[in-house]
Amino acid sequence: MATKKKAVRKSKAAVSTKVKPAKGKLGVMVVGLGAVATTMIAGVEAVRRGLAKPIGSLTQMGTIRLGKRTESKSPLIKDFVPLADLNDLVFTGWDIFKDNVYEAAVHAAVLDKDMLTQLKPYLEKIKPMPAVFDQYYVKRLNGTYVKKGKNKRDLANQIIADIKAFKKTVDRVVMIWCASTEIYREATAVHQTIEAFEKGLEDDSIDIPPSQIYAYAALTQGVPFANGAPMVTVDCPVMVELSKKYSAPICGKDFKTGQTFMKTVLAPGLKARMLGVKGWFSFNMLGNRDGEVLDDPESFRSKEVSKMGSLDYIFQPELYPELYKDIYHKVRINYYPPRGDDKEAWDNIDIFGWLNYPMQIKVNFQCKDSILAAPVALDLVLFLDLAQRTPELKSLGIQEWLSFYLKSPQTADGLYPEHDLFIQSMKLKNTLRHIMGEDLITHLGLEYYD
Ligand SMILES: NC(=O)c1ccc[n+]([C@@H]2O[C@H](COP(=O)([O-])OP(=O)(O)OC[C@H]3O[C@@H](n4cnc5c(N)ncnc54)[C@H](O)[C@@H]3O)[C@@H](O)[C@H]2O)c1
Repeated sequence: MATKKKAVRKSKAAVSTKVKPAKGKLGVMVVGLGAVATTMIAGVEAVRRGLAKPIGSLTQMGTIRLGKRTESKSPLIKDFVPLADLNDLVFTGWDIFKDNVYEAAVHAAVLDKDMLTQLKPYLEKIKPMPAVFDQYYVKRLNGTYVKKGKNKRDLANQIIADIKAFKKTVDRVVMIWCASTEIYREATAVHQTIEAFEKGLEDDSIDIPPSQIYAYAALTQGVPFANGAPMVTVDCPVMVELSKKYSAPICGKDFKTGQTFMKTVLAPGLKARMLGVKGWFSFNMLGNRDGEVLDDPESFRSKEVSKMGSLDYIFQPELYPELYKDIYHKVRINYYPPRGDDKEAWDNIDIFGWLNYPMQIKVNFQCKDSILAAPVALDLVLFLDLAQRTPELKSLGIQEWLSFYLKSPQTADGLYPEHDLFIQSMKLKNTLRHIMGEDLITHLGLEYYD
């Protein structure tokens, strides 16, 4: 028994780190007050008033086991780590349309009218600030409520001025991109250093889309930045450098909500049992504004790249060539207005088992896109704020432990992204245990823990 006890791994960091308390108001600056954003904001207000439960939010409903299983110690995550209280959240944001959050929520048609009517006095007070927008990067939208500036540097300065003004009214700030998906662009020379990027802003470089103007403004003001959409935005050297320089945490990109969420649940199961996969066809139809934007091939390309990544990393075809080398993986997104926000995702998975015998799995997920995304957006905001109050996490820049929420996790150079939802969940919870000085749970030493 004594040797087994020794084998149990202890957290190296036990009691070595401190997390600052979540005192005062947390300002949430939302870029894009569309379906996801308004569902999150209305949802937070509904929860604050006791009208609904925060279902789908790990920060609000999840527990975390501490110590041995026999100790039966599983506090709520929000009681274990010092997260901002929902009552302390203050929302503001930008959009290319002038609608206030109530009007935008009615337009998005995600929440029912009764709920929105009850929340109307609160929601209609939240009015967007004019956005930084350029139709070149989102072909299907024509913004009317946009900032004008002599170049991209000037536009970044205007967002910085918005941040500074908001900061005077709250204690801490986090920014989250819930705006439309921009066209696909890879990082270029402009994204390699701060100097090159700032010159690019002055020169109106075509390689700098609005999302990076917001991100630059946020990070240089020490404001953490989350990206709910699939563009590169902060996944490039300059933004990592800015994140570290200004102690403003960043994470990956693109909320992991419907189909990819399911993929990263199913694929690890198939792999764990060494079942082979020949093909995975993923079809989506959706009818909201996001669907309309993604109907443009250039915006779809951003989404496609983000959605395609997970399987390769989970199946590791280089380690298991007989099982996963020749997977035919196809992703389709179709704009179909009658469905609105009620997305339907079909997956057909051709698998093979013992002695190569073929089988098929069909998944039909009839989801509500923004109902799935809203709690993810909320959790990212709360955890990025926690990261910023935790010196050890803040110094990392990229918060890989938040990969749990994202289709495209971001990692430090040279590391491969972890897509398996269960490993991601373990990483997230162990990070919380670590910063609070608790033992990590590794599921080793079972007898001892029993
Ligand atoms: N809902 C999901 O499950 C889910 C999952 C993953 C990613 N996403 C991404 O989240 C984003 C938001 O989705 P949605 O359904 O809320 O879309 P939406 O079209 O309802 O909302 C996007 C809002 O952003 C605004 N906008 C566009 N460009 C802007 C800019 N430069 N500055 C400020 N505002 C701008 C639009 O006017 C619109 O109000 C999309 O990029 C989508 O791809 C959503």
